[in-house]
Amino acid sequence: MSVKIAPSILSADFSQLGKEIQAIEKAGADMIHLDVMDGHFVPNLTMGPPIIKALRKWTELPFDAHLMITPADQLLEAFADAGADIITIHPEATPDLAKSLKSIQALGVKAGVALNPETPLSIVEGHLECIDLILIMTVNPGFGGQSFMEDVIPKIAAAHTLIQTTNHPILLQVDGGIDKNTAPKAIQAGAQALVAGTAIFKGPGSYAENIQALKS
Ligand code: DX5
Ligand code: ZN
Repeated sequence: MSVKIAPSILSADFSQLGKEIQAIEKAGADMIHLDVMDGHFVPNLTMGPPIIKALRKWTELPFDAHLMITPADQLLEAFADAGADIITIHPEATPDLAKSLKSIQALGVKAGVALNPETPLSIVEGHLECIDLILIMTVNPGFGGQSFMEDVIPKIAAAHTLIQTTNHPILLQVDGGIDKNTAPKAIQAGAQALVAGTAIFKGPGSYAENIQALKS
């Protein structure tokens, strides 16, 4: 199965988000990655449920909401109602990770856990039964356009091995500094889905060419 590409609209033209989403769907994107930042959990501030809801009618592709907000629990339902198909949270943003993941799944949405470069994989080990996606961050969250941290590659490989031990599918996603040079390294380590903002929206070719460059 070829790697899935999740363009992060953080690098899109914010004045044209609906059209940008249509364009990347046409260009071959597999899902839309929505970086939600609150100016508190991370220093940057981006979008919330009303924007996601407004974007929902522009594409049939799954909405992959990466929440960099704390506390996360009180907004989970709003993101589900806005049309998120996957909600990914950071363990540091909730007092009870398992409870939050179960709340996401109870909303009929897939539940993801995002691990910062410094956060150990062991944090997900006891909770695999309520996880549908593991997001390995290869930059510190907060901003697009940062450099891929090579040191995190062994954690991608370890997550790949861990996922093999479960009897339900868990998507292994990698986020941060993905471009045509770093994508093969993430894929080689076991990544099944790649998030990319800069490389797709500000890359050298058309959106379709930029997406293709990450797959090959
Ligand atoms: C960082 C975000 C990423 C980021 C990716 O906090 O989670 O999704 O926007 O952007 P690039 O591809 O530019 O590193
Ligand atoms: Zn992200």
